[in-house]
Amino acid sequence: MSLTAGLWLALGLGLGGVCGGWLTARRLLPRIRRLEEGSERIAQLDTARKQFIATASHELRTPIFSLGGFVELLEDDDLDPATRRRFLGHVSEQLERLRKLSVDLLDLSRLEAGALELRPEEVDLGELTRSVAAEFEPALAARDARLELHLRRHMEIVCDPVRVAQILRILIDNALGHTAAGTRILVSTGRSEGRVHVAVHDDGAGIPTEQLNRIFEPFYTGDAVHGSGLGLAIASELAERMHGHLTVASEPGSTTFELVLED
Ligand SMILES: Nc1ncnc2c1ncn2[C@@H]1O[C@H](COP(=O)(O)OP(=O)(O)OP(=O)(O)O)[C@@H](O)[C@H]1O
Ligand SMILES: [Mg+2]
Repeated sequence: MSLTAGLWLALGLGLGGVCGGWLTARRLLPRIRRLEEGSERIAQLDTARKQFIATASHELRTPIFSLGGFVELLEDDDLDPATRRRFLGHVSEQLERLRKLSVDLLDLSRLEAGALELRPEEVDLGELTRSVAAEFEPALAARDARLELHLRRHMEIVCDPVRVAQILRILIDNALGHTAAGTRILVSTGRSEGRVHVAVHDDGAGIPTEQLNRIFEPFYTGDAVHGSGLGLAIASELAERMHGHLTVASEPGSTTFELVLED
């Protein structure tokens, strides 16, 4: 081989190598990007998980400390019966708060882990709504509120009645608890375009626009009423788990949450 031919060959091989390397790098680049994005997502999830545990522990700590305080006060033998009764009332309030919180936390973590089992069966949505609404009679009377039902007949659907009832309870509880006394609550059912919906409407003060996209986040509470902020997070996760969704529309004097499910 002459010197010139050798040089050309070396140059060719060199260029080939560079091109080959460049092509391989081009092919690998998207994969590396995906890996990078994946690890960023994992890091974000890890931060979210840590945040969740920190907030949950804080929420649990508050009633436990409060219970400890009341138990200490109750140990005093000289307490008069009225004060003792008042303290015992606080104890049972805190116990109820702990019970609700532990059930809610368990539900939410099961939902997020995809481990919540649904038991679908044929259900009359009207009947189910009526029976959930009836549970609220004492709470309605205590808040001087009214609940009206506008139910369509023959609303048989296949769904898990326990979980649909749970969503309705969360929505009615909010319509009652996050509004002033004397509120009017309207619960209605409807069917359109292959979907069924249950709406819970109230004529309370409404939810400020800037809060509307946060109310479904776990632990988000928008007002001074004492709740853990888990209700709507659970309700929307449950709705999605049932291939449905939860919507909200609110303005001063009117708030409507709607559960939409496949017919
Ligand atoms: N019908 C409503 N009217 C006004 N504000 C509402 C209504 N429903 C929900 N909200 C707002 O949305 C927030 C989140 O509701 P969510 O049910 O998730 O939590 P919570 O009721 O505060 O606590 P929890 O349900 O865990 O006891 C509430 O704190 C409240 O500010
Ligand atoms: Mg709530």
